[in-house]
Amino acid sequence: MNFQFLKLQRIEAKNKPMRAAITAVGGYVPEKILTNQDLEKMVDTSDEWIRTRTGIVERRILEEDKATSDLCIKAIEKLLDKRGISAEEIDLVIVATVTPDHAFPSTANIVTHKIGATKAWGFDMSAACSGFLYALDTGSKFIESGKHQKVIVCGADKMSSIVNYKDRNTCVIFGDGGAAVLLEPSQDENGIIDSVLKSDGVGIDYLNLKAGGSKHPSSHETIDNDMHYLYQEGKTVFKFAVTNMAEVSREIMDRNNLTGDSVDYLCAHQANLRIIDATARRMELDEKKVLINISKYGNTTAGTIPLLFSDFESKFKKGDNIVLAAFGGGFTWGAIYLKWSYNS
Ligand code: ACO
Repeated sequence: MNFQFLKLQRIEAKNKPMRAAITAVGGYVPEKILTNQDLEKMVDTSDEWIRTRTGIVERRILEEDKATSDLCIKAIEKLLDKRGISAEEIDLVIVATVTPDHAFPSTANIVTHKIGATKAWGFDMSAACSGFLYALDTGSKFIESGKHQKVIVCGADKMSSIVNYKDRNTCVIFGDGGAAVLLEPSQDENGIIDSVLKSDGVGIDYLNLKAGGSKHPSSHETIDNDMHYLYQEGKTVFKFAVTNMAEVSREIMDRNNLTGDSVDYLCAHQANLRIIDATARRMELDEKKVLINISKYGNTTAGTIPLLFSDFESKFKKGDNIVLAAFGGGFTWGAIYLKWSYNS
């Protein structure tokens, strides 16, 4: 009888899908601060305009001789230290970024080498501001399948390397920074539960970086025409972002029977306070549940959501229901539902 029971339990455990859990977080932003007042001296803008239209007060800028991999390395070093493990134990590193150190090799390649993750392989993911969600979902599959035990997912961008500091439409919005999470097999029901990820190539005209790829290789002409800077048609992107981020967040709630009461926190991509507010309203969330750090860092593209984790980690309790939501270039957008898996 006992034997049968144990056998049944074992079969049940075997059939239960393995979940990937976030077991550690590390974040890094550069020391140099660029304030709204600094920008007032560079372009025709005002602190008041930036605050009321975006919610941003200041952003961080990486040293010119440093690259996105340096942001990732600092974040990962913190993460490894917190978890008390060495880089040699890591199986895979995924870096979400639109500002890779080079076209190739990948930033993940550089990072794995420099942190001493001798056993790991890695790759970059490009999905603009949704990059961290795409990478987190991808990384979780390597845990769920049983292929890997320790996967690092990093979201980081040195946006200052592609921002035109003469263009007031974009230079006030972006900043540099990044953060990383460690994924491991969950020991309980907590972990990454569901994801809805989307893309629509219609976005190319409204948010892009035109040159430097195979379509417009670098040339005197591409430089003269400012084609190596990020271009954004803010108003159009805003309309798409408001609708789609709210919709996808609602979708993930509905299919997981979540309500405004049962969601503990929304970690939304920090592009604009007004877009985050619209999403929170659609989710019927109390404003205390909406985590915000856009005022300090601006939009760090793939860095925003993991930077929320590192800033607010001490708030999270084991079992908390957390919804992640993002919208970005592509267009790309999506939402992830996870149950937080540790008390810090
Ligand atoms: N200071 C002062 N005035 C400005 C500034 C500035 N920094 N920037 C623009 N303006 C002016 C414009 O020129 C315009 O003037 P006009 O009416 O005389 O032409 C006016 O302010 C209004 O401009 P809008 O673009 O309509 O301003 P809006 O309220 O839409 O805010 C913003 C602009 C903040 C860019 C907003 O549209 C936005 O947040 N868009 C979405 C951003 C986003 O989510 N991006 C996706 C992620 S990013 C990624 O994936 C890399």
